[in-house]
Amino acid sequence: MRWRSGKELREMFLSYFERNGHRRFPSFSLVPDDPTLLFTIAGMVPFKPYFLGKREPPFKRATTSQKCVRTNDIENVGRTARHHTLFEMLGNFSFGDYFKSGAAAFAWEFLTVEAGLDPDRLYPTIYKDDEEAFSIWNGEIGVPKDRIYRMGEEDNFWSVGPVGPCGPCSELIYDQGPSFSCGRPDCGVGCECDRYLEVWNLVFMQYNRLEDGTLEPLPKQNIDTGMGLERLSSVVQQVEGDFQTDLFKPLIDKSCEICGTRYGDGPSSDRAARVIADHFRATAFMIADGVLPSNEGRGYVLRRILRRAVRFGRLFGVDRPFLMDLYPVLIDVMGDPYGELIEQRPLIGQVVELEEDRFGKTLEMGLHLLESEIGSLAPGKEDTLPGSVAFELYDTFGFPYELTEEVCQEKGVSVDREGFEEEMEKQRERARAGAKAASQGIGKSLFDEIREEQGATAFCGYTSERANTTITAVIVDGARVASAPEGSEALLVLGETPFYGEGGGQVGDRGNISGESFQADVTDTIKNSGDLVAHKVVVTRGEAAVGLSVVAEVDGPRRRAIRAHHTATHLLHEALTRVLGRHVTQAGSLVNEEMLRFDFTHMKPLSAEEIDEVEVMVNRQVLLNTPLEVILTDMESAKRLGAKALFNEKYGSEVRVVRVPGFSAELCGGTHVDATGDIGSFKIIREEGIGSGVRRITALAGLSAFLHHQRLSGQVEALERLFSVPAEELEKRAGEVIRENRRLSGQLEKQKSRQALSRVEELLRGREEAGGVSVVTGVLEGSGPEALREVGDRVRQRLSPVVVVLAVGEGDRGHLVAMADKKAVALGVDCGILVRRIAASLGGGGGGRADMAQAGFRDVAGLPMALEGVRGLVLDMTGEGV
Ligand code: GLY
Repeated sequence: MRWRSGKELREMFLSYFERNGHRRFPSFSLVPDDPTLLFTIAGMVPFKPYFLGKREPPFKRATTSQKCVRTNDIENVGRTARHHTLFEMLGNFSFGDYFKSGAAAFAWEFLTVEAGLDPDRLYPTIYKDDEEAFSIWNGEIGVPKDRIYRMGEEDNFWSVGPVGPCGPCSELIYDQGPSFSCGRPDCGVGCECDRYLEVWNLVFMQYNRLEDGTLEPLPKQNIDTGMGLERLSSVVQQVEGDFQTDLFKPLIDKSCEICGTRYGDGPSSDRAARVIADHFRATAFMIADGVLPSNEGRGYVLRRILRRAVRFGRLFGVDRPFLMDLYPVLIDVMGDPYGELIEQRPLIGQVVELEEDRFGKTLEMGLHLLESEIGSLAPGKEDTLPGSVAFELYDTFGFPYELTEEVCQEKGVSVDREGFEEEMEKQRERARAGAKAASQGIGKSLFDEIREEQGATAFCGYTSERANTTITAVIVDGARVASAPEGSEALLVLGETPFYGEGGGQVGDRGNISGESFQADVTDTIKNSGDLVAHKVVVTRGEAAVGLSVVAEVDGPRRRAIRAHHTATHLLHEALTRVLGRHVTQAGSLVNEEMLRFDFTHMKPLSAEEIDEVEVMVNRQVLLNTPLEVILTDMESAKRLGAKALFNEKYGSEVRVVRVPGFSAELCGGTHVDATGDIGSFKIIREEGIGSGVRRITALAGLSAFLHHQRLSGQVEALERLFSVPAEELEKRAGEVIRENRRLSGQLEKQKSRQALSRVEELLRGREEAGGVSVVTGVLEGSGPEALREVGDRVRQRLSPVVVVLAVGEGDRGHLVAMADKKAVALGVDCGILVRRIAASLGGGGGGRADMAQAGFRDVAGLPMALEGVRGLVLDMTGEGV
């Protein structure tokens, strides 16, 4: 077998299948256009609608090397030589074309002839009673009977998820030879060790699993195969595990260099190198596909992966942001064919560095919490940190269990691992429940049924606001009925419609549908099952019945206002890209008749100048009154036109490009103005951050923009009257008033401080003793937090060792401060714990350091009692109270 690089193998695979009549596609996005999946987990995901027969494929055979993310056993990544979060799946697909026999022949020829694997070392496995597969391997391919293994459901039945396309499969196992064996006497095909490696999975995709578990035959028999490129490379390159292949080795070496270790030094440093290399790769790919760190969904997965990499660096003392050091190496290995990694360099860099920096800060906070939790264990009695604390650290602070364990070890404390695992299991349960919930609703719905019967609704709304058509279906309370009576709410499906169904951020149209004896108001329009349009109506006169001839008419003025906002969104998108840079990518949008909202990737707030520049650029385009162009074409030509596309846009099908010639082009199915002048005017009214690296702009167009200006000028006039100055002097005058106000407040605060300080002597006289520490407590009416601290400081200067607890309360709000000097801290006093305990008894909370802490509380009436308890708490801490 000849040594070949991963890149060669990828190309060899794709061109082999291309030669054999398959259409080759570049990898699709990691973010699937599929609400049931967080990530693209297999090569077949982008083709799911074809397998399910929901869409007619424009080709019968396809091949890809698909980037995939799977994180179900992330804990194992790093521990083994073969687990990854991101990997490439080589796949060939047949949509109702060749089936088992063709798939087996292709796979065998590719592995034995193209890749040069020894046929005598290959073992096919089949689903237990799949006699057809057996006779293909044995009779057609010529594999001896005793080399074909029968396996159960677990191994040889593949499905994309709890519901969806699935089928029995056949795997090809390659014997790497005795030197790879685990050495157990029963090591053979099916053993988990590295000798008998599953190389390729051929799925005979012939069922759709429904929500109730039944297997419904698919309209056609299909083939879906998957072979890990990393794994194939390890076999061809004859190395131990995927991390030793040329696809990974450079990243591993760089990770070791960063950690100051050598690969092979020991299990923990090797593990760190594998985690860092794997996780950075996944991180960069996810960000390049538009995923940004957050606390839910994909963003959370990204955050966990990225942080896991960072903390493994920490274990080897790397406490600076280091992940981007791996970037040039990643580009060397994967920049071709994954050009998105290069295009999105600024975004990847910004997001990674920001998140590393953030995590650096959380890491400190987590360490504080951990230390205080360790401190609150009773010495000698409790020496195990509860699993729930380790879990909180893991979950909230992104703290590695290993790190928690390590810190605890240093302090002679162990961690309740079982308790931690239990909490983890509970979290997994919650995640599973969540995934199940997400998969609800993809079963055969009523809309699917209507869509199958009637086909897509013809949409004439790009050119017209009115259509003569018929009612083809009526739904009331979730059931299909023949008619809906006057006064009822219903969903109507029409043969043809000018109503735009909500989609691509644009809201659904409103209007009315009427016939000779009937009238209904359309309150919303929704798209279902892809392109079936349902009109949400209230029947105001007569009966809405299937078969009635009707006139469907969109609320024109509202539609025109929506169009203005939608085209303005395109202009805004382009202007942002020009002003801020090419990293600006759409992350979401909402367009209605009153305003537009546009979310996009950018790491910092926009300056006032940038906002002005964007506004002027858009308004210039409006004044040019450029007629829009709409072009129906394929994805490749759309790209040549420079059309912006969302990450998860599908390839292959016809796309619609909306162009403002000379300025912008975007893939879009929405309704737009005829010429930019119809937008009237454009104004940004808000700019804010809505998540790490995502900004949101809210803006107005058309009449909304005018009304906004009108309202503002009214407010300015009111202010002119209030301050008795003309508009141009308002800012100056308001500044003066604010400064004067601040001066007076400062004076008042000082006066309060003076009053409070005058009580220092009295407080000192009232001191008590506890375990050799002076304890001073008091209530200072009318003081602010600052005054409390100042008085506390004075007391601290006068006595030692000393603890001083001062509080103020009014109504149902109180504030307290505890301070201790160094000697008192050395004797065991911890103000953080002290205020937490006092505040807890008063219905509040707080915290801080051992020498100074603060808290807020509600039960002001309980304050005197609580302060009486301080002495006892101090005794406890200094050990005298036990
Ligand atoms: N879709 C085939 C596999 O993931 O193995």
